[in-house]
Amino acid sequence: MTTPIYRNYYRQRTANQWRKIPAEQGDPSAIRPFLAGNWKMNLIPRAGVALAARIFDLCHNIRDVDMGFAPPFTGLSTLADYIEPDFLQREYGIGRNVFLLAQDTFFESKGAFTGEISADMLAAIGVDRVIIGHSDRRANLGKYFGFSSSVARRLSKSFLTQSHLRLSQRENPDIKILSAIAHLLEESNNDVLEGLEKFLEHELNERAGESDEAIQRKVHAALANGLQVIFCCGENREARRAHETFELLERQIRIGLDGVARPTMHEIIIAYEPIWAIGEGAKPAPPEQIAEVHDFIRNLLMDLYGEQVAARVRILYGGNVKPDNICEIMQLAGVDGALVGGASLNASDFSKIIRFGLPN
Ligand code: 13P
Repeated sequence: MTTPIYRNYYRQRTANQWRKIPAEQGDPSAIRPFLAGNWKMNLIPRAGVALAARIFDLCHNIRDVDMGFAPPFTGLSTLADYIEPDFLQREYGIGRNVFLLAQDTFFESKGAFTGEISADMLAAIGVDRVIIGHSDRRANLGKYFGFSSSVARRLSKSFLTQSHLRLSQRENPDIKILSAIAHLLEESNNDVLEGLEKFLEHELNERAGESDEAIQRKVHAALANGLQVIFCCGENREARRAHETFELLERQIRIGLDGVARPTMHEIIIAYEPIWAIGEGAKPAPPEQIAEVHDFIRNLLMDLYGEQVAARVRILYGGNVKPDNICEIMQLAGVDGALVGGASLNASDFSKIIRFGLPN
């Protein structure tokens, strides 16, 4: 027996299992899947609008699911102007189900934060939702920004000797820091220093990025400015192999959403994106694993916010979602849509993803 695909549904928990209950297509109070394209660092504004236009053309009259586009910051304003609901309604028979997404935001509202963009700036140009905690930012910043080599440099003998001198000349030097540096500088500690340098260089290269705490602040800044949040979480290959997936996800969600009150949870969409399944050359997570994690996240939300909230929060899957696997993924009882990278840059592929379960 093949599992049916519902484009609109309710969700119920019976015998400890979440199930989708079909709803009339377009039922306004049913759950609407959300198919979101994360363009990452691709497309100049004009090219983004051209891509969106081709997608709308292939998705005439689709009103039963939500679609979202996350261009880089530079493409937001142009796309905001283009996706004006009356125009989309007139031209393509779609409208209020199209959402403009930003890929990140900063938690402070203004000030000396060169290069950052605040949530109220995004809201002011028509952004509806913001992706927060994407793994590209949680885990890859160390690699790109070179924190690791800069820390490694600080563990060289010459840097430590100079620092010791500089700190000891201060009025009230921190004795603990001074003695730690003096200790490291002892001849017998050469190997320790070298080992420490290698360890930290590797750690930062692999792991430095946005912390759960920074992500939590971003979540609150977005909500305070009327933006909905697409909260990303997911484990890397190492954590999966070490059977630490659930522990890690629980930490990401508990800390990241800490302080979000129950009535505000309808402004939150969760995206489960296992890092090992993302990007060219990787394989999507197998459906059993997606189902298992989505159920885990939903049960955690039930503990934190109760069954009613847990049944309705949309949990998306991301990681090599393509036209040929979207149906299988959307058949899972815990999945409410997809956060799509590569395939969202191709009009034909992304429109097929939006049209999952419909005849061609
Ligand atoms: P891919 O679909 O290219 O694997 O990317 C997933 C992703 O990171 C979306 O945010």
